[in-house]
Amino acid sequence: LANFLNINELSNDKLIELLNTAYAFRDGKQVHLKRPVFAANLFFENSTRTHSSFQMAQKRLGIQLIDVNPSTSSVTKGESLSDTVKTLQAIGVDIAVIRHSQRGWYEPLVADDNISTALVNGGDGNGQHPSQSLLDLMTIHDEFNHFEGLKVGIIGDLAHSRVARSNAEILKRLGAEVFFSGPKDWYPADFAEFGEHVAIDELLPQLDVVMLLRVQLERLDHQAVETFTATEYHTQYGLTDELAKTLKPTAILMHPAPVNRGIEISSDLVEAPQSRIFKQMQNGVYARMAILEQILNARNLLED
Ligand code: CP
Repeated sequence: LANFLNINELSNDKLIELLNTAYAFRDGKQVHLKRPVFAANLFFENSTRTHSSFQMAQKRLGIQLIDVNPSTSSVTKGESLSDTVKTLQAIGVDIAVIRHSQRGWYEPLVADDNISTALVNGGDGNGQHPSQSLLDLMTIHDEFNHFEGLKVGIIGDLAHSRVARSNAEILKRLGAEVFFSGPKDWYPADFAEFGEHVAIDELLPQLDVVMLLRVQLERLDHQAVETFTATEYHTQYGLTDELAKTLKPTAILMHPAPVNRGIEISSDLVEAPQSRIFKQMQNGVYARMAILEQILNARNLLED
């Protein structure tokens, strides 16, 4: 891979290769670099998991990190993302992991012949979250060993969620049956091609995978926030303790986190036996090692 930007651009064979590589890293696979390799992680939006697990993956692969904090960088003086990446490239950065609120932030950079630093998408607005999708696929495959025929419900703040968009598309392509739930107003019109919207109480008993999404309070306008109290949201659209009793015994609970405990999911269910939420985070390190290994390979930076 020259860059890692959109999981839906990858072939099924490439996805399987990435999953197998991630499992191999989890089983102790080691790689050795031919020369010192440098990465910079630019998070223009806040992050705990994606940022820290990319750092962990980079350190485990022997990649050296260049510390760049967008909030104290010359971006605050108006420097463009493109000039920021060109600057990092000029000083020797091989790989830039970027999270930015602009959907498709990477498109002009990929089209720019003067940029050769590898670009990794750590999340673009409500577009894609491809490394999250890979770790989610890894977690689902861990459990069921296949995707074909699985019933997956993506439930919550669909309108603002890059996780919903990237996962719905890739899961459908891999043969899963995708459904959505949550406030109907938050079901984007273009999601109909991936799956229908179903009320949560009707949907839950059918599901193999329950993928809950955070209500993104920071992205809601004032009027929308006033539409529900936290308790009203939890009761009408969230996974309550009562509703969880209707789940299949084999169903798993997922959430990309951060979690609003008591809003989209009952707090007790976060650590329930059916929850894979912390497993997702563990898998995230190995999924990101696999992504970075593909980029190192494409640049001929790995010893045979
Ligand atoms: N799941 C996820 O992207 O979490 P962060 O926003 O903390 O990176």
